[in-house]
Amino acid sequence: MEPVRLGLIGGGLISAKHIEGSKNITNGSLVSLCDVNPACQSLAEELKIPFFTDHRRMIDEANLEGVIDGTPNQFHAEIGIYCAGKGIHVLTEKPIAATLEEGKRMVEAVEESGISMLVGHHRRYYPPIRRAREIVQSGELGQLVGVSMLWALMKPDVYFEVAWRSQKGGGPILINIIHEMDNLRFICGDVAEISANARRLVRSGEVEDTVSIRFELVDGALGTALVTDTAPSPWSYELTSGENSDYFKTDQDCYHFLGTKGSLSFPTMEVWSHPHDREKGWWEPLMRRSEQIGYSAPFTAQLEHFCKVIRGDDKPVITAADGLMTLATTLAVLESAETGRAVAPQELLEKA
Ligand SMILES: NC(=O)c1ccc[n+]([C@@H]2O[C@H](COP(=O)([O-])OP(=O)(O)OC[C@H]3O[C@@H](n4cnc5c(N)ncnc54)[C@H](O)[C@@H]3O)[C@@H](O)[C@H]2O)c1
Repeated sequence: MEPVRLGLIGGGLISAKHIEGSKNITNGSLVSLCDVNPACQSLAEELKIPFFTDHRRMIDEANLEGVIDGTPNQFHAEIGIYCAGKGIHVLTEKPIAATLEEGKRMVEAVEESGISMLVGHHRRYYPPIRRAREIVQSGELGQLVGVSMLWALMKPDVYFEVAWRSQKGGGPILINIIHEMDNLRFICGDVAEISANARRLVRSGEVEDTVSIRFELVDGALGTALVTDTAPSPWSYELTSGENSDYFKTDQDCYHFLGTKGSLSFPTMEVWSHPHDREKGWWEPLMRRSEQIGYSAPFTAQLEHFCKVIRGDDKPVITAADGLMTLATTLAVLESAETGRAVAPQELLEKA
């Protein structure tokens, strides 16, 4: 079968990952590029594909089956809805949209048109994340009662030379914690309620540098996440998971999942439990089972999956509605930090 014809909108940082991914798949092929910045023409020339500066023209003229949207958040709704109107499938970068209102309009457009829209939460394609979900959902840990997440690292000074990163909306909650909330939802299920404190303990500017989050899952487990981007530490997804070789890799964990039959550390993937034939209790020895999970590139797997979904050979790992709930969960952290009250992501979504 012919490879799926894909168009890429946006020629920036994240698009480089999609371009790399497209070179490693056989069921899809990048056939056109669009960016409002004419300087990106040279990238299209390098890839030997046509270049457009208007996404509507590319969508109308390039005979596409799928679009990858790598533009900034505020364009996701307009582009996604335009694609839906033309019957073209979309892989939109995360977050699904800049606001819940826009995200809801995208979900409606997807439902009306019958296209598939995936949201680019690429960690869902990383084997250790998938395995953690399998272990938690298999019941091996028993009833999940607790989750502990740490996202602590030091952002370098140069990171803050880009002005918007010190302005409202540019802090770790919206930029980084959206990934943690998606991991949490993917592995453990939806979050019923969130309380958070966000502080600017060290840095100047308008954004938080340290956040504590308390949450309750719909299935009843309780959890916490401690977030700081101003402490050198080995305990973050970025530095532990090995997913992105740009980061220094440590051999530590960033998450712990606790159940009535056992516990799982991530990403060391150690399951701690009592032997089946022994009493359970704090006097009893615990046994440890470790798993080695091989590496495979999540952006490649994501694109391969997108093409399979377009051909009807796979069900979406993440739909538009699912991506919208991850955005609502992340905005619930922000709203709780701003108002001082507990916030339910579902209510936030209904109010939008
Ligand atoms: N999955 C991830 O881990 C991850 C990581 C980084 C960024 N992102 C997401 O990717 C998106 C883009 O981020 P980035 O860091 O690549 O930004 P970027 O600024 O590096 O690139 C965006 C590109 O889009 C172009 N553009 C802007 N408006 C356009 C339009 N209307 N039509 C065509 N081109 C347009 C810009 O000229 C620019 O080249 C954001 O939504 C961001 O949240 C995801």
